Amino acid sequence: MMGPTAELHVHIEGTLEPDLLVRLARRNGIDLPTYDVDELRATYAFTRLQDFLDVYEANTAVLRTDEDFAELGEMYFRRAAAAGVVRAEVFFDPQAHVRRGVPIEAVVEGLGAAVDAARSRGMSADLILCFLRDLGPEAAMEVFEAALPLRDRFIGVGLDSTEVGYPPSLFRDVYARAAAEGLHRVAHAGEEGGPDYVWEALDVLGVERIDHGNRALEDPALVARLRDEGVALTVCPLSNLALRTAPPELSAHPLPVMLEEGLLVSIHSDDPAYFGGYVDDNLQQVRDALQLDDETMRRLAENSFVSSFAPRAQVDGWI
Ligand code: ADE
Ligand code: ZN
Repeated sequence: MMGPTAELHVHIEGTLEPDLLVRLARRNGIDLPTYDVDELRATYAFTRLQDFLDVYEANTAVLRTDEDFAELGEMYFRRAAAAGVVRAEVFFDPQAHVRRGVPIEAVVEGLGAAVDAARSRGMSADLILCFLRDLGPEAAMEVFEAALPLRDRFIGVGLDSTEVGYPPSLFRDVYARAAAEGLHRVAHAGEEGGPDYVWEALDVLGVERIDHGNRALEDPALVARLRDEGVALTVCPLSNLALRTAPPELSAHPLPVMLEEGLLVSIHSDDPAYFGGYVDDNLQQVRDALQLDDETMRRLAENSFVSSFAPRAQVDGWI
C-alpha cells in the first residue's frame, strides 16, 4: 500500500463502479444498455473528454435518492481509506442530478451522510460543489443559490465538464458570490483547453488550485506565475492517459517536467471507476513508469497535504 495522501481531485459520480451501477439501476427501475458488469466496463473506453462525459452523464441516471448518494459516497470513502487517503476533498455535480428532477437536498444530504460516516472512521473529508461549465453561467448561479441553504455541507466550488468553448471568465459572477460566502475556489483548466484558460481561472475566478493544468506547460510565463504563487495543480495521470490529454505512454507523462519546474503538483484519480484506478493505483503506476524515487513519492504526498483545504493543524500533523 502507498503511504498516506490527500485526494483532492475525484468526482464522486466518477467513482460509480459497474457493480453499483447495476444494483442501483435494478433498484430504481432504470434501463441500462447491458446489465453485464464486464460488458459495462468495456463501454468505459474513451479517446477524448467528451466521449467520457457522455457515458458518465448517462450513468448518473441511476442515482435518484439520498440513499443512492449515501451508498455511492460510502463505497468511495471505504475504497479511498484502503488507498491510504487520510484527507478527501470530493467533487460533486449537482446540476447532473437536479436537471433529472432529483432534489438537491437528496444529493447533498446523501453525500453528506457518507462524509459523516467517513469522518467517524477517522478520515478528514469534505465536499466541493462543481458547476457544469457547458450549462453556462446562469445555470451555475441558479444551482449555487439553490445550494446556499446547504452551505455548511460543502467547503468550496469547482468548474468541470466540457472545457473548450466554455472559458472560466464566463463564471466570474458566481465565483465572486462564492468568494463572498467564504468558499474555496478551484477550477478545471488546461486539461483540453489552452494556457489562456488557466490564466483566466487565476485572474478572473481567483482560484486557489488548478485541476489538471497540464497545458500550462506550453506557456513559460504561466509556469513562472504558478511556481511563484505556489498555485497547486491536481494532476491525474490515468485520466490523462484515458482521455489522451497526455502522451499515450505513462513513461512520457509531463509530471517530471512539472516537478523540475518547481510546481506544486500532486497525484489524484479524477474518475477512478472509468480510468482504471484510484489514487493508490495512480501513484503506483507513475512511480513505476517514471521510476520515481522515494524522496519524490514523499514530495508528492506532502504536496497533496499542503495543497489541501484542511485546517493548518491537521496539515502539520500529516507532513
Ligand atoms: N467531470 C468529471 N471528470 C472530468 C474531467 N476530467 N474533466 C472535466 N470534467 C469532468
Ligand atoms: Zn476532474
